[in-house]
Amino acid sequence: MRHRHQTQHGRMTATTTGSNATAASATTTVAVLGLGPMGVALARALAAGGSRVRVWNRTPRTLAEHGLADVERDGSPAPIELADDPAAAVAGADLVVVCVRDHTASRALLETVAPHLDGAVLVNVSTGSPDQATRSARHAEALGVRYVTGAVMVPTPMVGTDDCLVLYAGEEDDVTVATAALTPLGGTADVVGTDHAVPPVLDLAMLDIYFAGMYAFMHAAALVGRQGVTPARFLPYAQAITETLNGSLPGLAASATERTYRTGDARLGMCLAFQEHILTASEEAGVPTELPALVRDASRRAERAHGADIDWDVVAEELLGPR
Ligand SMILES: NC(=O)c1ccc[n+]([C@@H]2O[C@H](COP(=O)([O-])OP(=O)(O)OC[C@H]3O[C@@H](n4cnc5c(N)ncnc54)[C@H](OP(=O)(O)O)[C@@H]3O)[C@@H](O)[C@H]2O)c1
Repeated sequence: MRHRHQTQHGRMTATTTGSNATAASATTTVAVLGLGPMGVALARALAAGGSRVRVWNRTPRTLAEHGLADVERDGSPAPIELADDPAAAVAGADLVVVCVRDHTASRALLETVAPHLDGAVLVNVSTGSPDQATRSARHAEALGVRYVTGAVMVPTPMVGTDDCLVLYAGEEDDVTVATAALTPLGGTADVVGTDHAVPPVLDLAMLDIYFAGMYAFMHAAALVGRQGVTPARFLPYAQAITETLNGSLPGLAASATERTYRTGDARLGMCLAFQEHILTASEEAGVPTELPALVRDASRRAERAHGADIDWDVVAEELLGPR
């Protein structure tokens, strides 16, 4: 179960909706534009949760081909209507969700549907960079569209469950409409304020940690594998160090905020010695060295700039830029 989230500015609010809290959207018509895996998951959850759903996809397929023919609500088929074009999908809808590959695609769609929205709020959950999200919001404003930036922070199986987490940014009235209509998505609706760059930057920052961590695990599994240790045998050790990392995050966050690096918890010189050993072990094993070399080199630069008798966290200085 997800819990409340708070930004450093304290502006973020969270609403835990629950996957069965559907009454608010019982008569709501939601259009979903884009039926990739995420668009389908959103449409399924909305239809199962009580919304009337209208869907459209660039490449025409049947509802069954989209995996939307078997959705049930209270034991009966849920109402999902397949529209021939985006304008028909949004006509008369209370809320429009755009869920396509990127912001180039979503902006073109927005231009197509803008004249047909009739005051409906449009939520764009297509992933993009913070600048792309900001530009898309300005584009929507110029078109007179009530526009909310969303970021679905979970994989498709978690949509419609208590573990769903969606971030929203936009004008308060528009976000209120969006979160009410999207109640069937379940879990937590995090409203992060009016800055459209915040949902994507939080989304991508989480994925930054996720992909680097997954690559680090695979690298480590290759390293132990050269000594005949199987991934399964390594797994509990990997999970233990991940727990340790999790416990270290509050201290790292404090370091990145205060920028003093004087707790004495993990000295740079000591950490650098470990990193040299990891690099040597990788070379001995013939495992690619880019990742350990990247971390070691960042530590070396920090040592040159700040000396070895300081917290390793000082590597943040070259990342964070001028104070
Ligand atoms: N899948 C996940 O777990 C997940 C999680 C969080 C966020 N997201 C985000 O959700 C969005 C959709 O992701 P996805 O997983 O459903 O699959 P995707 O492969 O990222 O997007 C596929 C959808 O985008 C449509 N599309 C691509 N280019 C288009 C264009 N120029 N005009 C109109 N439609 C276009 C595709 O239509 P066609 O069928 O015609 O190609 C299809 O409906 C992405 O931005 C993704 O990053 C996905």
